[in-house]
Amino acid sequence: MNRQLTTSILIATTILLITVAAVGLSTVRVGAQAQSGGNLTAADVARIANETVTNVLAKQLAFPIEAEVEPRRGCPACHDLVNATSGQFTLAYEAHAATKARNRTHPAFQPTDNPNVTECFACHAPGTGARAGKGTVAPLALRDIVHPAHLGSQIFKYELGGSCFSCHNVDGEGNWLILSQKVDTNDKGVPNPDKLPIPGAIPAP
Ligand code: HEC
Ligand code: HEC
Ligand code: HEC
Repeated sequence: MNRQLTTSILIATTILLITVAAVGLSTVRVGAQAQSGGNLTAADVARIANETVTNVLAKQLAFPIEAEVEPRRGCPACHDLVNATSGQFTLAYEAHAATKARNRTHPAFQPTDNPNVTECFACHAPGTGARAGKGTVAPLALRDIVHPAHLGSQIFKYELGGSCFSCHNVDGEGNWLILSQKVDTNDKGVPNPDKLPIPGAIPAP
């Protein structure tokens, strides 16, 4: 969305809300007149209109319509070592943080290791037979961890503009391939046509 369009939307929203407030006011005035014969003063109208604009601007700041979100596709586009001491935000760091939150310890990697998602499948691939619904070795299959953890995350969805296509590419047979490497894309997230098939796009285990 371009800046002009966004600004127009913001102005239109503001005008709409002021109109709604004004309509609300006339109702209040009719009611007030009926009860006591009183009228809202011009100062009241100005105050309420001003509060309305302030509220709209506050919302705009909290959830910018025009956030410039750089597309990120492939786990390492978001999960990379940015703090050599804590390990934030490698996949190993995430594994340790999530298990620690349950007062348990993750059995593989140090938080500062920077493994590829393929290494998680050694234990978190979907189990079969007696382990159906679980991971092959770990209690949970990775899909049952990452789907809710991301699609329910405000940070993933709003701050980072995440979606299914942050982690997947759907191939011609309808397979949801996993983007195990950072994908080279344009500003819309479309892969670079000079580098196809997408490097690191692998079938789910
Ligand atoms: C667009 C950015 C983005 C991409 C791409 C991404 N993640 Fe994440 N991931 C996040 C964010 C943000 C969180 C933390 C969510 C929160 O706490 O609100 C997270 C959290 C996690 C967690 C912790 C889950 C938990 O239970 O706490 C794991 C595991 C994880 N990601 C794995 C992956 C894997 C595997 C991939 C690739 C298949 C991937 N992520 C791709 C942004 C991303
Ligand atoms: C050697 C096997 C093994 C490997 C490899 C492994 N895990 Fe785990 N993982 C486990 C086990 C076992 C647990 C359960 C630990 C517990 O609860 O005591 C677990 C738990 C987790 C949890 C916590 C889920 C929850 O909410 O309870 C996350 C997140 C996780 N692993 C992510 C990962 C990621 C990401 C990778 C790859 C970087 C990975 N794991 C690699 C065995 C493994
Ligand atoms: C954070 C990364 C991430 C996001 C976001 C994500 N997925 Fe996944 N998805 C995975 C991973 C990793 C697996 C494989 C995990 C496993 O085998 O346990 C998977 C597996 C799947 C599979 C099974 C594929 C197969 O061949 O078995 C489907 C279907 C799927 N995802 C659909 C979706 C849809 C639809 C969305 C959006 C609503 C979505 N995913 C969002 C990471 C993600």
